[in-house]
Amino acid sequence: MLETKNLNVVYTSGSSLSFKKKRIVAVEDVSLKIQKGKTLGLVGESGCGKSTLGRAILGLVPIESGSIFLDEEPIHEKSRKEWLPIRKKIQVIFQDPYSSLNPRMTIEEIISEGLIVHFPGLNKLKIRELVATILNKVNLSTNILQRYPHEFSGGQRQRIAIARALVLEPELVVCDEAVSALDISTQASVINLLKELKSMLNLSYLFISHDLGIVRYISDFIAVMYLGRIIEYGNKNDLINNPKHPYTKALFSSSFDIKNRDKERVVIKGEIPSVLDKPKGCHFHTRCPIAKDICRVESPPKVDSEGDNWTFCHFPMSNK
Ligand SMILES: Nc1ncnc2c1ncn2[C@@H]1O[C@H](COP(=O)(O)OP(=O)(O)O)[C@@H](O)[C@H]1O
Ligand SMILES: [Mg+2]
Repeated sequence: MLETKNLNVVYTSGSSLSFKKKRIVAVEDVSLKIQKGKTLGLVGESGCGKSTLGRAILGLVPIESGSIFLDEEPIHEKSRKEWLPIRKKIQVIFQDPYSSLNPRMTIEEIISEGLIVHFPGLNKLKIRELVATILNKVNLSTNILQRYPHEFSGGQRQRIAIARALVLEPELVVCDEAVSALDISTQASVINLLKELKSMLNLSYLFISHDLGIVRYISDFIAVMYLGRIIEYGNKNDLINNPKHPYTKALFSSSFDIKNRDKERVVIKGEIPSVLDKPKGCHFHTRCPIAKDICRVESPPKVDSEGDNWTFCHFPMSNK
């Protein structure tokens, strides 16, 4: 349903003097597919480019090169005006339910705002009806319509944010660390709600998270990102049980350690290198337990395995 081809997103940082500006290639040559009605989990350490990829798909950051297709229609070439109908189809739920809801708007205004923008012909009664229907779906009462965001807990606010996104009947929802700010028990109920809504409304999710346990629970497919590149993609069970890339293997083996379950950072030998100075060849070679000379100089090739699974590695691990 959504496809990116050789997508590159570059930020410039540093002094405004052009000769001092540095290029940060936050998303590097990313080609990925998200299937209709499925959840693609996007994992990787902090700073590897997950949010930037999500924002590029949402049209919130300019892309340097490559393309993005929604239902086979190229959306990366659209002007701001042409983006309006696409915006309805691709919605977002951000991490922080405190800053993502306007404190001066009532819950009714927050949820109906998108309807008013995208369906200017709808009358007030119909809008009320749609808002009530979606509130019911996210297990909130219509009694809250005239209240303000500050009156609600984090979990309730995230339900409101979900209602705001889903009232427009999108095809794809980008969830960027959507439950990371919630406590564990609230996380579980919001995740289960997202799962239920997915099958009820035939949604697709791009589920971005550093929490491997949650990604493991919610995803159908998983993409693993490292310093801007997707280094492995596959259906969940194959990718976790039979990883082809040494990074994927290390990432998921550390997540199975219950002590690490809540940690922001994944435990892998060595520090993640700076995006400003990515290692040549395979970006992972400086931390890879099986790196050889070729890994230090040549970018790894794409290696396909069963199904639609693939990895970028000079020495992918074989089936055992
Ligand atoms: N607006 C920005 N300007 C410059 N650099 C940015 C900006 N946003 C993110 N970056 C950099 O791009 C890289 C990827 O960031 P991000 O996509 O937020 O990663 P993640 O979501 O995986 O933590 C990081 O090195 C980050 O510092
Ligand atoms: Mg992020």
